[in-house]
Amino acid sequence: MKSSALVFLAAFIALSASWGGFVLAPQLQLGRTAQVKTGPAQDNYPVARPGLAAQGAEVYRSLGCVYCHSQSVGQEGVKCEIILIDAGTNATATLAALGKLNRELDKPQTLALLPKVILQVADMNAADPILKAIGAAGAKAQVLVNAVGPDISRGWGRRRTVAQDYLYDLPVQPGSRRVGPDLANLGLRMPDVNWQLRHLYAPAATVPGSTMPPYRFLFEFRKIGRQPSASALQLSGKDAPPAGYEIVPTEAARALATYLVSLRANAPLFESPFTAPAAPPVVTTNSPAK
Ligand code: HEC
Repeated sequence: MKSSALVFLAAFIALSASWGGFVLAPQLQLGRTAQVKTGPAQDNYPVARPGLAAQGAEVYRSLGCVYCHSQSVGQEGVKCEIILIDAGTNATATLAALGKLNRELDKPQTLALLPKVILQVADMNAADPILKAIGAAGAKAQVLVNAVGPDISRGWGRRRTVAQDYLYDLPVQPGSRRVGPDLANLGLRMPDVNWQLRHLYAPAATVPGSTMPPYRFLFEFRKIGRQPSASALQLSGKDAPPAGYEIVPTEAARALATYLVSLRANAPLFESPFTAPAAPPVVTTNSPAK
């Protein structure tokens, strides 16, 4: 075998190139992903799911919800709104600076009723010089970053989903089909556990026209004992159990519903920014203010 060195070299290059592509490159890109502090309140994000919700993730996985639901919000880009907050003390200089950005803005009305949106630009690169020009004239402006795209307009999220969002999920269940809505932020849209349970038991009765299959085996149909159970479903119409009977969620149903309301991926991240509304002030006492 004269060319054994060549064969070895070819195999070596092929294997090391694929190792580089499949192991090294992802590790360099994502290997150091860690929890971060984010948003106006500097909350930790993401956080591990608490016990019952973590069990619910397994129920979600075992029932194949992922075949009809994605957990991954898409985004086409951002729109930055420039908001004039303070006109400064020299109105003439401010108007002159604004007039240079857009001739329409060089009018006294521009400075009335602040704060207000004065310009819309494509991204932060375009916004930065505008902020500088406004600042140089002694006025103050702020940028509001809004994510845009069809998923965002549907209300499925405030920004696109990124790898960081799945940090504590093993396995991740981003899904690839959308027979039903995306669930990445379900916990913010529908935080009511009892609604989730009723929907799992009778989707069509909860959402008229729903084609989602009911998951009745997650519930127990039983005779009311000495006292009705506190967790029995409140059902009406043809789904209601006959008198003397009740429908009670099993442990798996409660875990699944807890998992569903724990789905919230809405903290702004460096790689997927948007401007979060300011956190409400933390009230630690209900005694009257002094
Ligand atoms: C055959 C496809 C299919 C499967 C499987 C499926 N769903 Fe659905 N799901 C839908 C459809 C369609 C809707 C929209 C109608 C509705 O709200 O009932 C929906 C809606 C939902 C909603 C309401 C979301 C919203 O934003 O309105 C939740 C929550 C949900 N499904 C959870 C689940 C869970 C949990 C499972 C697994 C136990 C599951 N689904 C399995 C098709 C499916």
